[in-house]
Amino acid sequence: MQRNLNVKADRPSPEREFEASVLHGLSRRPRAIPAKFLYDAQGSALFDAICELPEYYLTRTEISILRECAPQIAALAGPARQLIEFGSGSSVKTRLLLDSMEKVSAYVPIDISGEHLEATCRRLRGDYPSLTVVPVCADYMELQDLPWVPGTGAPSRLGFFPGSTIGNLEPADARAFLQKARQLLGDEGALVLGADLKKDPGMLHAAYNDSAGVTAAFSLNLLRRMNRELNANFDIDGFEHEAFYNGGAGRIEIYIRSLRPQTVAVAGQRFFFDAGERVHTEYSYKYDLGDIDSLAAQGGFARVRTWTDPDRLFSVHYLVAA
Ligand code: AVI
Repeated sequence: MQRNLNVKADRPSPEREFEASVLHGLSRRPRAIPAKFLYDAQGSALFDAICELPEYYLTRTEISILRECAPQIAALAGPARQLIEFGSGSSVKTRLLLDSMEKVSAYVPIDISGEHLEATCRRLRGDYPSLTVVPVCADYMELQDLPWVPGTGAPSRLGFFPGSTIGNLEPADARAFLQKARQLLGDEGALVLGADLKKDPGMLHAAYNDSAGVTAAFSLNLLRRMNRELNANFDIDGFEHEAFYNGGAGRIEIYIRSLRPQTVAVAGQRFFFDAGERVHTEYSYKYDLGDIDSLAAQGGFARVRTWTDPDRLFSVHYLVAA
């Protein structure tokens, strides 16, 4: 597996990074902990369960769109493309592209988690024995270039960023992601981007406040994770999950809210929470086509094709380097 391909050195260990981010996030006002820390093993399993919920339309809708449009994506991409996946996502979505793109010259998944990468690569190598798989274990935002794949000429690259993960990035970070993708994919590059669409706020509210309480368990798992890993003593029943659609900002906002005044110890430090005080954990931005066009332009891309489902819930875009 390729590791640290021109990646900045001196990264703190994941444990140190979690502790430092939590202590900083609980000390600042408003309190906030980055969403990436929601995805430990338990959080990732809970997110997989969210994807199956009746109210959470995003995953199944994107898969249904990709099933329909994968042959058209393959035709736009042309032969001998390298497929570059940003974050080793659900192999269901990757397979839809691979099955349509007969002549992919290599599949290059990039992920910070070596475990995720290995699992993805093992499955894909088993099912696509002739596919060259070149995993890169890194934070793609810190990569300066992509690996050279033996036996291929000048690489023509197709990026893949599904799942509306772009929606979890604040506007400046979403722009920075697209600029990085543009740099890594090159002048002949193209990017397949999945993005959730603006819609009825009631439907959005339900998707992040499911009746089975799985999304609440996913949020509150962050407190459990701090108890497990940072020697914290959060009483989980003393907090609740809060998610709502902020129409002005075009985003779902997610918080963990204290139900009463309480003091909690985390990694040897004490933090007081007032009743009603919140810790921000996630944004999930929703888009319309104008938003995608301006984001693409800021990132150095142009949108050439968009596919949606019949109810216009979700969108998949084909962007080319501008
Ligand atoms: C991963 N991401 C696209 C999800 C979303 O819909 O923003 C994360 C999520 N958080 C709560 N439910 C789903």
